[in-house]
Amino acid sequence: MDLKGRDFLKEIDFDANELLQIIQRAQKLKKQKKSGREKKHLKGKNIALIFEKTSTRTRAAFDVAAHDQGAFTTFFDSTSSQLGHKESISDTARVLDKMFDAIEYRGFAQSAVEDLAQYSSVPVYNGLTDQWHPTQMLADFMTMKEHCNKDLKDVSFAYLGDARNNMGNSLLVTAAILGMDVRLVSPKSLTPSSEIQNMAKDLTKLSGGKITITEDVSLGVKDVDFIHTDVWVSMGEDENVWTERINLLNPYRVTQDVLKMTNNENVKFMHCLPAYYDDKTEIGKKIKDTFGIVGIEVTKDVFNSENSIVFDQAENRMHTIKALMVETLS
Ligand code: CP
Ligand code: NVA
Repeated sequence: MDLKGRDFLKEIDFDANELLQIIQRAQKLKKQKKSGREKKHLKGKNIALIFEKTSTRTRAAFDVAAHDQGAFTTFFDSTSSQLGHKESISDTARVLDKMFDAIEYRGFAQSAVEDLAQYSSVPVYNGLTDQWHPTQMLADFMTMKEHCNKDLKDVSFAYLGDARNNMGNSLLVTAAILGMDVRLVSPKSLTPSSEIQNMAKDLTKLSGGKITITEDVSLGVKDVDFIHTDVWVSMGEDENVWTERINLLNPYRVTQDVLKMTNNENVKFMHCLPAYYDDKTEIGKKIKDTFGIVGIEVTKDVFNSENSIVFDQAENRMHTIKALMVETLS
């Protein structure tokens, strides 16, 4: 399939074959890079990187991927550019469109990245919004493929925690597109909106996927190949929600007991990162001092265990973002 010129604003912008094509391209590019045989497909291209929220992996992945492929990047944030304060998203889009070959955007409302795409003719990539995290999905499903000798359609995974944030929404919908067995394990008040649940259910009619949304940890994780989690309070949320979130989500922390409940000694642990598993970060320390908890969404022993593949997952952000740019720009 020719994906040239396509936007990636949310997972349903691509069908299962198109998502798998990008992942296959990423596997090829990864091999080429590791053996020093990488070909440059993006020579002379210019990529705009807009970050209204902070980032380590996504920014690094776009930068390194572009550099490896012969492209250049320009970084914009909301403090050092006119975006938001003096210029609208639509005007910014019309300006960047004249200078860049593609635009990456990380921010708050999904409507902002949709507007960028509407007012520019070049591919626009969603580098995370409050609702979706599609480039993360490419890396997550590539990583699951690498760590399981099964066809993705036969893979099962459970996501524990805040299941109505960008990661919960994106994992549910991507698994539904790909026809997998996905379980969201969280309190009822933190499940995806009915609109997103219905979208996912409709997708499984086509793909044959299976969706379970449950409050019951032992039921949700039984026999799964992978356990995913994410932070309990996402970027852009008020700090005041921590108390309520901790009360709601304490039973959904990924511990060694949860790994045992899967009944699968080879179960792998995944996290998009950054993770709060100790008191070495500002927030980790604050939570310890306020609530007496060390290891919020995951315990340190799980995070650092043999089962944990979080850093392979982080590496694959770069290979998959590179593949996305190569597929849509060359
Ligand atoms: N997983 C992820 O998007 O990481 P960053 O916030 O560091 O980009
Ligand atoms: N849900 C998290 C993901 C970070 C990559 C957030 O939005 O902060």
